[in-house]
Amino acid sequence: MHKLLEKLCKDHGNLEKILTLLSTQQDHFFAGRESNFDLKIELLEYLETYADMGHHPLENLIFDTVRTELNEEQTELIDRLQAQHDSLVQLTRTFRQSLENVLQGGVMPREELEVQGREYVALQRQHIALEEAEAFPLIEEKMTDEKWREVAINMPRYDDPVFESPDKVRFTTLFEYLSNNH
Ligand SMILES: [Fe+2]
Repeated sequence: MHKLLEKLCKDHGNLEKILTLLSTQQDHFFAGRESNFDLKIELLEYLETYADMGHHPLENLIFDTVRTELNEEQTELIDRLQAQHDSLVQLTRTFRQSLENVLQGGVMPREELEVQGREYVALQRQHIALEEAEAFPLIEEKMTDEKWREVAINMPRYDDPVFESPDKVRFTTLFEYLSNNH
């Protein structure tokens, strides 16, 4: 497996850790227990910055690079995943804004926040699962060394601010939580 595809798989593992933390906090909230809103907002902020600005753009670049090699059905898959990248950007922003609003005393009904949170985590997980099951094997099959070189030249330069180059100021609550729970 090419090292950039390995990186995408590693990113998915990290994203899954973040989604697990998010759903654990949501379970507390759904059960009427205390839920750490600062932590949830930082988790969303991580998804907004790294997933939406580093990980998805790299995938989009690879998808566009293999596009000419694909049949109609495979092209539809790539189109669907790229459209999901766009809608995930919107959903992440909307959910973070809802959390911030509630934290600041907003009046959003609890049930609405619950539904939004559950749907958000489910969509992220479905998206990752679809990429791993169908898109990544296709990439492995269709990408050539030359195409990988092309991607490596044009790829977004964006460090992961939690798992690669930890930004302990920006993600204070998250790092505190991780050091207290391991
Ligand atoms: Fe992905």
